[in-house]
Amino acid sequence: MAHQPVAVYPGSFDPFHVGHAAIVDRASQIFPRVIVGILKNTGKDSLFSPEERLEIISEYYKDNGAVEVRSFSGLLVNFLDERNASIIIRGMRAVSDFEYEFQMALMNRRLAPHVETVFLTPKEEYTYLSSRLVREVAALGGDVTGLVPDQVKHRLEERYRKATHPPTR
Ligand code: PNS
Repeated sequence: MAHQPVAVYPGSFDPFHVGHAAIVDRASQIFPRVIVGILKNTGKDSLFSPEERLEIISEYYKDNGAVEVRSFSGLLVNFLDERNASIIIRGMRAVSDFEYEFQMALMNRRLAPHVETVFLTPKEEYTYLSSRLVREVAALGGDVTGLVPDQVKHRLEERYRKATHPPTR
């Protein structure tokens, strides 16, 4: 049987939104196994902790045997090696994404020449969507229905309710 490459879809996913889910769906149509790799960045400005992001996305894919959810730290190409993966999936929304993505793809190729980066385009209606905008809209009380899975929406509401109404003693 021909070798079936394993693909990793890496990102911060803070938070995971429907544009991300659409890329996972597309990747799953090409690769039999897709691993969502959550970067454990320890930046203080992240909204959800790596553990929370892992929990949220794992819950979302709990009934999908073709999608695995893991977090990683350090170099992405090392994570691919650990998982026996050879494909990096990235979503390319617009020309503005190009330079950053191109630099990353070439750096990863330099670090691991056997790894290939595959760019997928999201649905047209999600081209403007980013985690940063979702965070901003949610923080300011805007409606993010349809932009994130329901479970993420509830977590965002909970997070910002707590921030605006801290518990009284
Ligand atoms: O969703 P993001 O935040 O644009 O994802 C960026 C990510 C996680 C793909 C990138 O920061 C990454 O791969 N980080 C791991 C560190 C690494 O391997 N750096 C060198 C490759 S350019």
